[in-house]
Amino acid sequence: MTGEENVTDFRILVVDDEPRMCQSLRQLLAGRGYMVETAASGREALRCLAAQALDLVLLDLVLPDLSGQEVLDHIRQQHPGLLVIMISGMASIDSAVAALRAGAYDFIRKPLEGEELLRRVENALKQKRLAKEKAAINWELEQSQKRYRYLVESSPDIIYTLDDEGRFTFVNDAFERILGYSREQVLGRHYSEIVYDADAERSRYTFNERRTGARATSGLELRLRPSAEPSTAARREQPGTAEPLPVELRAHGMYDRDPHDKERNFLGTYGVARDIRERKMLEAHLQQEEKMEAIGRLAGGIAHDFNNFLAAIVGNIALAKMQVQHGEEVHSRLEQMERASLRARDLTQQLITFAQGGAPVKRAGSLPELIEEAATFVLRGSRARPKFLFPKDLWAVEFDPGQIAQVVQNLVINADQAMPEGGVISLIGENVTTTESYRLPLKPGRYVRITVADQGCGIPRENLSKIFDPFFSTKRNGAGFGLSTSYSIIKNHGGYLTVESIVGAGTRFFFFLPALAVRSRAEAPPEPEEKLFRGQGRILVMDDDPMLQEVYERLLRRLGYTPVIVADGEQALEAYGRARAAGEPFAAVIVDLTIPGGLGGKETIRRLLALDPEAVAIISSGYSKDPVMARYEEYGFKDVVEKPFTAQRLSEVLRRVLGGKGRAQA
Ligand SMILES: Nc1ncnc2c1ncn2[C@@H]1O[C@H](COP(=O)(O)OP(=O)(O)OP(=O)(O)O)[C@@H](O)[C@H]1O
Ligand SMILES: [Mg+2]
Repeated sequence: MTGEENVTDFRILVVDDEPRMCQSLRQLLAGRGYMVETAASGREALRCLAAQALDLVLLDLVLPDLSGQEVLDHIRQQHPGLLVIMISGMASIDSAVAALRAGAYDFIRKPLEGEELLRRVENALKQKRLAKEKAAINWELEQSQKRYRYLVESSPDIIYTLDDEGRFTFVNDAFERILGYSREQVLGRHYSEIVYDADAERSRYTFNERRTGARATSGLELRLRPSAEPSTAARREQPGTAEPLPVELRAHGMYDRDPHDKERNFLGTYGVARDIRERKMLEAHLQQEEKMEAIGRLAGGIAHDFNNFLAAIVGNIALAKMQVQHGEEVHSRLEQMERASLRARDLTQQLITFAQGGAPVKRAGSLPELIEEAATFVLRGSRARPKFLFPKDLWAVEFDPGQIAQVVQNLVINADQAMPEGGVISLIGENVTTTESYRLPLKPGRYVRITVADQGCGIPRENLSKIFDPFFSTKRNGAGFGLSTSYSIIKNHGGYLTVESIVGAGTRFFFFLPALAVRSRAEAPPEPEEKLFRGQGRILVMDDDPMLQEVYERLLRRLGYTPVIVADGEQALEAYGRARAAGEPFAAVIVDLTIPGGLGGKETIRRLLALDPEAVAIISSGYSKDPVMARYEEYGFKDVVEKPFTAQRLSEVLRRVLGGKGRAQA
């Protein structure tokens, strides 16, 4: 940029009380393209100054009203950037010095010499332009520094610099926020003081990285040591836990010259550390989930065999029980064995549900009985004791006994754990009719509501939204599964599980189960084993387990039926066809859902129904989670017997499916 180009941008004020002087200066300056204003007195000069932006003032020291000095003072105060060249007729060095001291840019003596004056003016304006440019550059610089500072300070990542010996020279806000050290505590300290001991070795040559470019540290996982006593800013963010903080580190060396310069000097390290707590947590959850999946597969794998064993045990107990009289000692032993075996069955089911969830296999039963048994069972040896409150007319519900027992157990265990000193856990049943406007997400209708109430520690408000999440636990060894499993079980039953709690006073969990049509508890089908339903007719059984085959054989005979046992689907189809042809059709077919190798239950029944659409088929399996078990009707089955089954259950199911056909008798 040269002076010539933009002289017209410059506006000069000439202040002199001699009109001729003003006139000739105006001509001189205008001749060079400057814009010129003139003022004949100090006051006029001030008016002029106030009216427009000027770049330079040629100011006569001697004016009629104000002194040149006064005008100069005014300019210094009101227009600090404005340049002033003093002009004076008095050839005195003193006044020149005084003017310069007072802030004039230059001083020219009268009489003025044209060229000389122009040179001085040009000089002054050049200075002015340079100052302007410098200010602009400074401003830019300041802005860009501000921007970078803002970026660095508001970064969610920790940003630091080290000197050449590894001592902190800069840390950003995040450093304090995340790690809890104040800047004063950290600056000048060696980085190794904040690295977790076990990672000291890994951090060497990386945290204080000297390399640059692609070879520098990037994506390195390290653990840092947060302050044991976080400063105030940090305490807001995280409570004073001094657990090692996992971070991902990126760092490189800082040099005074570019990387290829052999002469360059190492200045220190620049690094960014990202808090990866959350990611680590997610990874842990994922691992946990994978673990649960593996357990699920394992559970599923053993469930089949295990249930068959149990079925054989339960079946044989049932048979043995039939051979002894009721009051006998052996009979009560057998009953206890049976109860224990059934509990083992429930445990297997629990394991499967726990790991994989599953559609409930619902049937009508006595909820209070199940709840009493489950609660008493888990509270054995505990300081807490249960109190049951079930009205006689509690509506009947359909439920999966294994799953609901699990829910009750989870809730009761939680209640028990909330009252380490002991107390009363109330288990209450109520009939509830909900309407559209009910405060819970339940379809309008009739429900049985079960309350599990304790007087324990309670649940803080901020946790209430999280307790049903899998993995949420406040307990030392809690898996955080109890409530999440319970929630999904109740939901799968068409119900809802919810909670109310007051810290220090206690907690109430409520679960709703849809009530069955009309029958009350008193009318619910009684389950005592005395009621074995006898019937008659030929029953085809397909099961590959020899132990179970024997149990079926004997049980069915006891119940009055004529069993025919086969081991796989092909045999079953063949036997069924042959019997029909011979005019001795089977009254019912019981098929095992899973037969390794051969035709499974599903395929067998498909072909069987093709053969005889009227066929009465019952599915049997230990896999209650299998969709076929939950929605057996869609697959053409009339009913389900879960393995292991009791004699009573088998007799009941047979009566139910055959009852309509009149082939059995109670
Ligand atoms: N009755 C209760 N009183 C107080 N807090 C409870 C109660 N029930 C649940 N909680 C809180 O809810 C959290 C989650 O419970 P949940 O049963 O899902 O898991 P957990 O009991 O911690 O572990 P798990 O049941 O898998 O062994 C508990 O850690 C506890 O903080
Ligand atoms: Mg629990």
